[in-house]
Amino acid sequence: MATSLLRRAITKPHLTQLSKLQIFRAHATEIESQTREPTARSNPTLKTFQIYRWSPENPSKPQLQDYKIDLSECGPMVLDALIKIKNELDPSLTFRRSCREGICGSCAMNIDGCNGLACLTKISDAKEASMITPLPHMFVIKDLVVDMTNFYNQYKSIEPWLKRKSENKTGKEILQSKKDRAKLDGMYECILCACCSTSCPSYWWNPESYLGPAALLHANRWIMDSRDEYTSERLDAINDEFKLYRCHTILNCARACPKGLNPGKQISNIKKLEAKGA
Ligand code: SF4
Ligand code: SF4
Ligand code: FES
Repeated sequence: MATSLLRRAITKPHLTQLSKLQIFRAHATEIESQTREPTARSNPTLKTFQIYRWSPENPSKPQLQDYKIDLSECGPMVLDALIKIKNELDPSLTFRRSCREGICGSCAMNIDGCNGLACLTKISDAKEASMITPLPHMFVIKDLVVDMTNFYNQYKSIEPWLKRKSENKTGKEILQSKKDRAKLDGMYECILCACCSTSCPSYWWNPESYLGPAALLHANRWIMDSRDEYTSERLDAINDEFKLYRCHTILNCARACPKGLNPGKQISNIKKLEAKGA
């Protein structure tokens, strides 16, 4: 079976060696790492994982590589399977992970066609192979590791910190009522995993000029913060046809968010405030 997934063309000089546009299912017969059988067991539950492989050392051949593991010897999550494959079958398999509990956001990837965190996504019960690929429409650095530079720069561009005009001479915290604090719910929980932005069609087509759902969610987080004194400046900075208005409220972002957040709703709030001239 031939499989192809779109990836953006490479334009950055330092990324010229990165993955090109198409992935091909590996036709290769079993490689040495795959032929190793799991420890002999009476009732092994074998599951195949098709994993995107690409290395800058071999830039012309991105492919899906099959790995078979015994689920009865593996934890329940996709990250458990990846760690098992790396530990026991193929140490060259490369992916990010840290907390293993949905907090750091580093294990974001595309699992069976949906963006999600490998550590929070259960291994599918389906008999068919599970396909694991990098976050869509991102430059691939190696295997499942994508370049997050543009994403982080966009986050930085919304100035995600408290900004004050008046000096706090009290030497104490700037207090906030419970009601005002509650306005940040649904935003402060974001772990910047990029599942939302990389599932957004508008972001796919305009990744440099459209800020995308994650950065805009954070823009709204600071716009709505009662302690921040730069609300109108923040609104002015993103009141732009591309930065903000590429969102067409399709809500792929909300479906993709592993933390249950709704960036599309936060973007709508920004648009309402822009319309009011707040
Ligand atoms: S609602 Fe907006 S940000 Fe979310 S997926 Fe749709 S276009 Fe992208
Ligand atoms: S809004 Fe959700 S999907 Fe988007 S970066 Fe934050 S946690 Fe990830
Ligand atoms: S390893 Fe931290 S979110 Fe998955």
